[in-house]
Amino acid sequence: MSRIYFNEVVTRDGFQIEPTFIPTDDKVALIDALSLCGYAKIEVTSFVSPKAIPMLRDAEEVMGRIQRVAGVEYTVLVPNLRGAERAMASRADELNLVMSTSETHNRANLRQSREDSFAGLASVIQWVDGKTPINVSLSTCFGCPMEGDMPLSEVLRFAHRFADLGVRGLTICDTTGMAHPAQVEAMAEAMLKAFPPLQMTFHFHNTRGMGVANVMAAARAGIHRFDGSLGGLGGCPYAPGASGNISSEDAIHLLMCLGYETGIDLDRLLAIGRGLPDLVGHSVPGQMIKAGRINDLHPAPV
Ligand code: COA
Ligand code: ZN
Repeated sequence: MSRIYFNEVVTRDGFQIEPTFIPTDDKVALIDALSLCGYAKIEVTSFVSPKAIPMLRDAEEVMGRIQRVAGVEYTVLVPNLRGAERAMASRADELNLVMSTSETHNRANLRQSREDSFAGLASVIQWVDGKTPINVSLSTCFGCPMEGDMPLSEVLRFAHRFADLGVRGLTICDTTGMAHPAQVEAMAEAMLKAFPPLQMTFHFHNTRGMGVANVMAAARAGIHRFDGSLGGLGGCPYAPGASGNISSEDAIHLLMCLGYETGIDLDRLLAIGRGLPDLVGHSVPGQMIKAGRINDLHPAPV
């Protein structure tokens, strides 16, 4: 059965929308615990403006204090050259550049046009000059909450422009949970056909309850890399109606049930996930940390 490479984004996408600052010590401890679960990558933090995302203003300190585990790549979100300089100084294993395929969302989130973002990110790629692998996350690929449908041709157009610049991977993001399985299948087929050598990651939010259905559709269409957020936390504060990512543990459990090899220690992950409500101060959407695995049986009622 196929191998799935799972990326954990809880301390970046998961935390960026949380209203109450999560102490740096807690972020470091969580990442250190997640490092032992078998993830391919952990998106540790963002090197964005601390005014835009105050939660991640401690990015340098977190990157400096985590215990890096061999085999796990520690990636960071980067919107511009200033972010890239900070990420390189922090010895990130990968720079995850970000822009939106929607003009309206790009202006809301990054405060510039798509063309200006593309030009800025192209100069970042040139500046990094192959010293560190580059991934590009394209937001709103399955629909924009302000513009509506996102044509596949528009996603392909930006994907081709970044592929031409020599990036290692692309992440196709469903920023506000607008994707549905038939659309995901078509997107997966188009992306795998157009960019066979690239790391191709799909990133879903569960805003409309279709998150794990979309994971299943993508996996069956040949996508082997997914982002997820522990507990299903997450969302972009600059996308109206955004809500949590797919819950990593729910998606991993589904993939395991389907027979995929994920490399993840799910029991260890669930134990960490059960501490998440205390950490963020509220209940979280993920189902598995409440229900347990399907073979965790209950005693019969007396
Ligand atoms: N890291 C730290 N500070 C940064 C920065 C970075 N990568 N980029 C810009 N800044 C600072 C500037 O130094 C400036 O600081 P000052 O006001 O103290 O002088 C301030 O942020 C504004 O800079 P400017 O270049 O005018 O940017 P902007 O206000 O147009 O904002 C972004 C553009 C991209 C920096 C900002 O919108 C941003 O960080 N967005 C990210 C949003 C995000 O993470 N969304 C969720 C993930 S998809
Ligand atoms: Zn997201």
